[in-house]
Order: sequence, then structure tokens, then C-alpha cells
Amino acid sequence: MNHAVPSRTSQAVALTRATIDRPTSAEGSADAQRLLCEGMGFTPPPWLLPSIEARTRFVDGQVQDAIAGGVRQVVICGAGYDDRALRFRADGVRFFELDHPDTQADKARRLRAIGGEAAVTLAAVDFRTEDVGAILAGCGHDAQQPTLFICEGLLVYLDEQTCHRLLAGLAACAPPGSRLAVSIATHADGRDSAQVVASANARRRAAAAEPWRTILPAGQHLDLLARAGWTVSRVTQSPTASSEVSDGRLSLLVLAAIG
Ligand SMILES: C[S@@+](CC[C@H](N)C(=O)[O-])C[C@H]1O[C@@H](n2cnc3c(N)ncnc32)[C@H](O)[C@@H]1O
Repeated sequence: MNHAVPSRTSQAVALTRATIDRPTSAEGSADAQRLLCEGMGFTPPPWLLPSIEARTRFVDGQVQDAIAGGVRQVVICGAGYDDRALRFRADGVRFFELDHPDTQADKARRLRAIGGEAAVTLAAVDFRTEDVGAILAGCGHDAQQPTLFICEGLLVYLDEQTCHRLLAGLAACAPPGSRLAVSIATHADGRDSAQVVASANARRRAAAAEPWRTILPAGQHLDLLARAGWTVSRVTQSPTASSEVSDGRLSLLVLAAIG
């Protein structure tokens, strides 16, 4: 990950998401994603749309369900230019967003420019070296209150050990009633994961700055979630975010609960 500039992959996702017709809360802004993307100045490849649309609908649904069910905290890990704090704004609901400092600085500037800074608590973090529980406690997350945790398009960028530490760290501040909505990158059984990652990165222009790091057989990836303390309740297949798919790679959208 290049620390000097905001994440380009998260800009590509946000620009793609800005083209999708989506729900909002009663107090929310339907224009939030487009406004947050103002001036990004590039056009993401059209093949991103099917995967981003599926991911977006899945996570939007989880945010709406959680808030309707009484959850009052939403934590978005690797949030990038996620607009849900503005789109699903609701009285008494707190949104926390965690990402690299350079991306967070740009996100904060963009939120101020559209008067949205009060809608969300931003925290700068590097999941490779920092303890997510301590970061969340430091910015006011209440570990006694049920929370929806979101890791959308994130785990593939973290090495396996960091994925485990992050997921276990979230589980440790997730009381009963909490949920995890996560997208994971998988490949067919019987392939060598390191080779799958290398050949997928070889086809990605973004790999130099933001390489993919964790692509596993589905069973092994779901086991990683289980070992971190999460009980998977739903797995949905999504189109893969790639122009060329090999090795039986698939994106899975996973819902999990604590315990
Ligand atoms: C593909 S983007 C997805 C952004 C957002 N979740 C979305 O779906 O729009 C991946 C995000 O993960 C963040 N990220 C990657 N590695 C990270 C790390 N070690 N610590 C914190 N954030 C990281 C990047 O900065 C980027 O914003």
C-alpha cells in the first residue's frame, strides 16, 4: 500500500457506486456518494459494476436491517469513500469509519466540503500494526452495545495474519446482537493460494500500489472467520471484481454473528 496518496481502489469503487440507484433513510442523502466523489477525475472500468452493485446492495441491506432492528453503532473498516453515514443517517445511530491516514485525510476534507463531517467519526489506522479494539475505544465506540461491523472489499488487501487479528479484534468488542458483513475473495479448491494471488495481481494495474494478499479456498476463508469468533449465518456468491477471472476465483458476501 502506497501511503503517500489516498487509496485509488476505494475511489474506483466509490465512483462506480455513485452510478447505482440506491435506497436512503428518511434523513439520508441520496446524493451522498456522488458528492463525496466530486473532482476524483477518472473513470473506473465498466467491468467493476456487477461486483460493486452486488456488494453495495448486500451491505446497504445489512445497514438498513441493523438500524431497523435497533443497532445504534455501525463500524466500517477500510471505509474509503463509503457514503453510508450520510445515506443512512438516523437519529441516535453512530457511524465509525476506519482507514489509512492518507485516505482518511482526503475523506475528512471531502466531508467538510459537503457539510457532512458531523455524520461520522473517522479514525486513521493501519490494520497491519494497530489494535482495532483500542482504536475504536479511543474514538468512542461502546463495546457493550451491539454493532454492525462492515469489511467490504478490505480483507483481500490484508495478509492472512492481519485478517485474523482484525476479525478477532472486532469480535472482542462485539456483544451479542452484533453482526459482521464481509466480502471475501476465494478460489477453487486444490490450487496454491500464493500462486492464485500472484497471477491475479499480474493482471491488475492497481497491484503495484494496492496488491491483493488474501485469496483462499472458500472453506478455509470461512474457517478464518470462525477461528476469529464469528458464526457465519449466510453466504452469497457475487460477481468477481476483475476483468479476467482464473483459478475459480469468486467473491463471497458473508453475514456472520458473534459466538
Ligand atoms: C477497495 S477499497 C474499499 C473501500 C470501501 N470499503 C468500499 O467498498 O467502498 C479498500 C480500502 O481498504 C483500505 N486499506 C487497505 N489496507 C489497509 C490497512 N492495512 N489499514 C487500513 N486500511 C486499509 C484502503 O485504504 C481502501 O480504502
